[in-house]
Amino acid sequence: MTTERAGRSWARRGAAVAVFLAGCQGGASDPETVPQDVADVIAAGCIDCHSDSPVSGAPMSLATYDAFHAAAVTQPTRSVYELVGTRIHDAARPMPPTTPLTSEQLAILDGWIASGAPSGPGPARIEATATPVGPEHLPCEVTHEFRAHADGDLDTPFHLEPGAGNGGNQTLCFVYASPFTETEQGTAFAPIIDDERVVHHWIIFASSTLPAGVEVGDVYDCGVQGMPTSATFLTGWAPGGQNTVLPETLGRQVPGPGQYVLLQVHYWNVRSYADVLDTSGVAMCSTQTPRANEIGTATLGSLDIAIPPRANDHEVVGTCTPAITAPVTVVGSGPHMHQRGVSLRTEVLRQGREDQIEMLVDVTRWDFDSQTSYPAPGGALILQPGDVLRTTCVYDNMDVDTVTFGERTEDEMCFNFLSAFPAGALATERGRARGLCID
Ligand code: HEC
Repeated sequence: MTTERAGRSWARRGAAVAVFLAGCQGGASDPETVPQDVADVIAAGCIDCHSDSPVSGAPMSLATYDAFHAAAVTQPTRSVYELVGTRIHDAARPMPPTTPLTSEQLAILDGWIASGAPSGPGPARIEATATPVGPEHLPCEVTHEFRAHADGDLDTPFHLEPGAGNGGNQTLCFVYASPFTETEQGTAFAPIIDDERVVHHWIIFASSTLPAGVEVGDVYDCGVQGMPTSATFLTGWAPGGQNTVLPETLGRQVPGPGQYVLLQVHYWNVRSYADVLDTSGVAMCSTQTPRANEIGTATLGSLDIAIPPRANDHEVVGTCTPAITAPVTVVGSGPHMHQRGVSLRTEVLRQGREDQIEMLVDVTRWDFDSQTSYPAPGGALILQPGDVLRTTCVYDNMDVDTVTFGERTEDEMCFNFLSAFPAGALATERGRARGLCID
């Protein structure tokens, strides 16, 4: 879908360039460029999504002068730069979606757009500052790896049977005993994506229990058998996912001795490749010296899901009134729904008030295939006692059956896994043991 749209806008852009050149008195003319100060703002705030091959549901590129002067995808009578001028001030649908531009950055874009977005000295193409992904790019020594392996044999790659599961669509769990000491904290995580053809996404869970009959070293079908009830989210990867390196003052809580680590991999082998030998998973660094603040995971959202047949924009709302007596710092969000998800947002109601709402995360177009985590606005959002978090999940259901909560892909979920410190603080009284903050 996205590629097709991008292709069309390229074609249109090509035509515009041709007309422009025909108007010139022959000879090569310098290509138009985006002024450097504008390019810097776009590089910092937009290009990761609006690159030449836009990702995360973004409909168009913002990488070149021509891209800004192309007709907008959704409003072809306006040019992209005009729409940029609107959306960077649109409080309901802001661009960038999560981290707002500073007032200096806004002023640079506003000034340029007001004068018709003229060409000026700067780059011909604004490049994404692609951060390299993988263990070899970590600035620390890898201390642990959790990777897919054969059932009962950690040293042999996992062979995915073609056709296994639901038409090649399968969620498997690889079970590890926790290797961590009582005081250990995670400091950096790097995804290892071995067989890109079939690894859809993965999540690492910490758990104090295992499902009946499951043992350390096992590979079991957690899409069918489910997850242990005590499982909490530790880290995850989906296409577009990056290395995570925590600042010096932060460490990530990990499960202690006697507990378990579950690597849950969603395999998507619809083409029935028979030669899959996968070792995907995570490499991480850890420290035995606890850092100043420990980040834990709090689960927000709702377990109470019933999406009626043929429903459009069906909303599921879950609130979290944390039982806290001191401030809690939220550093990021990890929204999670399945295929029917349309959008998800988590708002903070200061002191529970409807007239004092701050957006924590707003995923306006949910894309199951590009799940990622989002930093809190400005990098950190501080919750005060009395604040309430409200998570709204919106779904479309084309089917004739009601869709309910569940682990299987055909079921639905409405979660936002928040990373926050102090670890364990952000929960309801009842949900404390599992990091649940669902009223
Ligand atoms: C995290 C990814 C992401 C970032 C960063 C981002 N955008 Fe977007 N942008 C999107 C998505 C997704 C859409 C489509 C959904 C929508 O319109 O809200 C979009 C749509 C737009 C549109 C509307 C296009 C149309 O035809 O309707 C404009 C304009 C825009 N973005 C400008 C910007 C600018 C300018 C920045 C940086 C200041 C930026 N975006 C940063 C993801 C992003």
